[in-house]
Amino acid sequence: MAYRVSSFSQYEQDYQFSVENPEAFWEDIASNYSWIRKWDKTLEWNFDEPKVEWFKGAKLNITENCIDRHLASKANQTAILWEPNDPKERFKKITYQDLHQQVCRFANVLKRNGVGKGDRVCLYMPMIPELAIAVLATARIGAIHSVVFAGFSAQSLADRINDATCKMVITADGLYRGAKEIPLKNIVDEAVEDCECVERVLVIERTAWNTEMQAGRDVWYHDEVQHVGDECPAEPMDAEDPLFILYTSGSTGKPKGVVHTCGGYMVYAGYSFQNVFQYDPGDTYWCTADIGWITGHTYIVYGPLLNGATTLMFEGVPTYPDAGRFWQVCDKHHVNQFYTAPTAIRALMACGDEHVLPYSLNSLRVIGTVGEPINEEAWNWYNVHIGKEKCPIVDTWWQTETGGIMISSLGEYGPQKAAHAGFPLPGIQPVLLDEKGNEIQENEKEGYLAVKFPWPSMIRTTWGDHERCKKVYFSHYNGYYFTGDGAKRDAKGLYRIIGRVDDVINVSGHRFGTAEIENAINQNIHVAESAVVGYPHDIKGQGIYAYVILRKPVDDTDFISAEIIETVKEEIGAIAKPDKIQIVSGLPKTRSGKIMRRILRKVAEGEPDKLGDISTLLDPNVVAEIVKGAQ
Ligand code: WTA
Repeated sequence: MAYRVSSFSQYEQDYQFSVENPEAFWEDIASNYSWIRKWDKTLEWNFDEPKVEWFKGAKLNITENCIDRHLASKANQTAILWEPNDPKERFKKITYQDLHQQVCRFANVLKRNGVGKGDRVCLYMPMIPELAIAVLATARIGAIHSVVFAGFSAQSLADRINDATCKMVITADGLYRGAKEIPLKNIVDEAVEDCECVERVLVIERTAWNTEMQAGRDVWYHDEVQHVGDECPAEPMDAEDPLFILYTSGSTGKPKGVVHTCGGYMVYAGYSFQNVFQYDPGDTYWCTADIGWITGHTYIVYGPLLNGATTLMFEGVPTYPDAGRFWQVCDKHHVNQFYTAPTAIRALMACGDEHVLPYSLNSLRVIGTVGEPINEEAWNWYNVHIGKEKCPIVDTWWQTETGGIMISSLGEYGPQKAAHAGFPLPGIQPVLLDEKGNEIQENEKEGYLAVKFPWPSMIRTTWGDHERCKKVYFSHYNGYYFTGDGAKRDAKGLYRIIGRVDDVINVSGHRFGTAEIENAINQNIHVAESAVVGYPHDIKGQGIYAYVILRKPVDDTDFISAEIIETVKEEIGAIAKPDKIQIVSGLPKTRSGKIMRRILRKVAEGEPDKLGDISTLLDPNVVAEIVKGAQ
């Protein structure tokens, strides 16, 4: 089995083989990595407990595979190319040799500060090289990283730190993101007040702002690193030891910690990166995500480095200092593979073609999208204006839980069709299920997207609560991993992802449970009850529409709405703030007290004439009021 697929017919052959002989297939792929000890058993699994173990008995360290094994041939090649928020600041190139040294030093700083194998470390950081280095340093010593996107509030951060009982938090004094400046360390201080488990806060200097350091708890990285050496042996890890936890929202109120393990995640991150992006030695690859999300974990840090690639890391945002920033960076660094989100494409498309025209973009070879369905208009714009109709678009469907890309073409190998992710990667066995859980065999049908056979980078558990993992992913349909997405297969069998079928809203590619946002809104003292739904949004994909019942009627609803938004920012973060708030006197409920979201969704979508049957409601009159007051 070739590690790299390089024609469509080879894809078809490999796919076939991988379904018929999954263990032999993955053994072959896994043999491209360096293992300290080979596995005794390739796969053991059942989806009932669930229990999935890949490469059982094997020992490895993912950082040896990301760094050490490239040193013989690529010591002086750039591993991480860092582009700052401000285009006037100098970019940085970190070679594989530098990366080795910096990761070892960082790892020694972690050890010096009491972190060891199995300990959890929370990373709440800007998109600076130290974030990637901290991720790798944690993995090097066998500690478990939990990266929290530095846009979440102190409250969200505290919840995640406590859930994983993190011993250490790594942060920076401050963060630059577009025109925004955020005092990260202050947010950490506020969070850690509620976290007894935290013994150390390790602070990187990014902004040189005046920062209060709590004696006995807080230390500067630049002080600590003075005391350590350049070598740190990689800790031998069991293939099934946890590598990281990453929190993600589901349909319940509380985000869950998705757990990925060392061996399987490594094999799939590396294999999927190589094949989807068709990376050639010497290429410069750029994924615009933040490392705080799974896309950044797998396709900024691990996937590229496992393949000895040059991975570009960008601190800024697409529209700063202007809407040409992405394209300017592509030209400046001769980017060959470019991977971004539909929401960014739509936002830039709306800013006008004049921001693209000054740039040649002629280094681009493969362009990709991730995070949400891409509509045809945005796909076409991306194809014409960015790919110049010569770059395949890889529309990659996957999830935090899947660890890596599941459905996508492999560069040019695979059909190109707007809004369709395409065929599954070798080794991935998706199915469409009907309401009853029967597999839909025919094409041109819609159903619930599930996966019927394990793959190496799949979720193993939800941190501290295995029952929850079982309930959310393995209990809807016995014997299947359930994705929470609806999908359709076209006449040729290409998958088109339609969107979530549960109470999850995908806002600019970020997942939020409606219950999670409702909980936040309900924290506001004026609020009695709320119900949140998603609605189509031109740029964000989905917007957040909140219906709110107040404790007491007020005259100034604008003021109350602004306060509610502040509450959500405090509870979750600005990324979850409602786009629309409608104050209502009641919610459409059934006689048993269940909110009928279908009705709220239709109103939010601007289709109040399609409410369907409302006769089962406790009080049908509230509907008329809601329709009348809709925004
Ligand atoms: C959605 C991001 C359509 C989907 C890697 C999934 C997509 C959720 C696509 C996971 C795509 C992701 N087309 N929808 N190409 N990629 N999604 O965990 O609803 O942040 O379940 O992982 O995003 O979001 P997550």
